[in-house]
Amino acid sequence: MLFNRLLIVDDDDNFINVYKKIFTRKKYLVEITNSAKQAIDMIMQDEFDILITDMYMPELNGIDLIKKVKQLSPNIETILVTGNGSIENAVNAIKEGAYTYIQKPIDFEELLFNIKKIQEYKQAKHKNSFKKSESINNDRIFFIGNDPKIITIKKQIQVIANSDSSVLITGESGTGKELVAKAIHDSSCRKNGKLVKVNCSSLSEGIMESELFGHEKGAFTGAIATKIGRFEMADKGTLFLDEIGEISHSIQIKLLRVLQEKEFERVGGNETIKTNFRLVCATNKNLMEEVKNGTFRQDLYYRINVIPVEVAPLRERKSDIATLVEYYSNEFAKELNRNKIAYSIEAMKTLTEYEWPGNIRELKNIVERIVVLSADTNIGAKEVNKYIRKSNTTSHKDNSDNKSYREAKLEFEKEYTIQALENNNWNITKTAEFMGIARKNLQAKIKTLNISTHRP
Ligand SMILES: Nc1ncnc2c1ncn2[C@@H]1O[C@H](COP(=O)(O)OP(=O)(O)OP(=O)(O)O)[C@@H](O)[C@H]1O
Ligand SMILES: [Mg+2]
Repeated sequence: MLFNRLLIVDDDDNFINVYKKIFTRKKYLVEITNSAKQAIDMIMQDEFDILITDMYMPELNGIDLIKKVKQLSPNIETILVTGNGSIENAVNAIKEGAYTYIQKPIDFEELLFNIKKIQEYKQAKHKNSFKKSESINNDRIFFIGNDPKIITIKKQIQVIANSDSSVLITGESGTGKELVAKAIHDSSCRKNGKLVKVNCSSLSEGIMESELFGHEKGAFTGAIATKIGRFEMADKGTLFLDEIGEISHSIQIKLLRVLQEKEFERVGGNETIKTNFRLVCATNKNLMEEVKNGTFRQDLYYRINVIPVEVAPLRERKSDIATLVEYYSNEFAKELNRNKIAYSIEAMKTLTEYEWPGNIRELKNIVERIVVLSADTNIGAKEVNKYIRKSNTTSHKDNSDNKSYREAKLEFEKEYTIQALENNNWNITKTAEFMGIARKNLQAKIKTLNISTHRP
């Protein structure tokens, strides 16, 4: 079996031990660890194909682990296990490059299904030695859409471009906020200056300060040379503060001063430096709420929110879905050297009806998988259903007409249940708790799976 090297990370030892036994019996090569930090070391030393990680762990959460792993080893595909109903974590995981997420209590059919999909996906990519797909990046993407909500934004961008006022772009993750920021810069008279981006969520407070303000040589240990900050770099251009809702209180005060006075000093410096940038901020938080509960300064909020731009979620501009699907489908086909895909009317209808919690980012991922994985160039609704996630976990149920798959799944479930029972000394209450299901359901499972509870 190709691409069968799994790394499973969870701080619950009982859980990972059960997994290890089951996947090993299924002929996977499995390593487990209860420490996210150790997982990183393992990935640096060994080769893995698939990482399955829990969300909440003491040293590092699952999303940060995925982010790190994607930097170290972009070819590892990852699955995040999240708490039930936590769509926010799921969407963030996808943003960091996770292949997919599954919710607790884990449905083994779903987990196995996803692992198999990843294996197929890797195989197809490998066979065709596809180029790295991320090369369809924002630098050469057009802002697509003719939905009235997008037309309004396009018009807004033209108006904004002629002014110098601060812009605050809001919208869910994956809706295109960064693309809007870029469009504002590119159509403004500052387009010959730089568009300088700072991701406020990925920097610690100390680093953030020296990133923004720069520092003088010797300002602190490690400041071996003078560093130009982003405020200076953005002079005559646009400063894009992404995820502005994440900045600390002390940075909020310092930023406010720079916006008011248009001047600042580098960290450890006395010289006052003047700068002239247009500020564009983005957030997927409700900043007004943050102002109300005191985590975001009201005066700063009014400074950055002179012109608000709201990017609607994809589910509220459904008329653009078909255009986006066609566009990305053709782009990926070109990029990956595959044939063009034709979608049936029903297929498009299914894609249009889907809710798209991860918005356009999710749409791109799914279209890429369709282009890579489908054997046929004509795609129907049934095929599409294999790739999109339904709110309940029935999206892949149409696979159950495949007998060997169904048998494999049952066998898997049986082994899992037996392992879980063994690890909990055949105590029904404890096992049910461990599996995250009701006691009654476990008893029913034992019966239908034909598990004998009479121990010698
Ligand atoms: N109107 C659009 N036309 C074509 N591609 C788009 C459009 N909007 C977004 N995209 C693509 O979708 C992806 C997500 O967009 P972007 O990074 O701008 O989202 P975002 O709102 O900044 O998300 P986040 O809050 O998670 O950072 C990008 O790859 C972008 O190119
Ligand atoms: Mg963004």
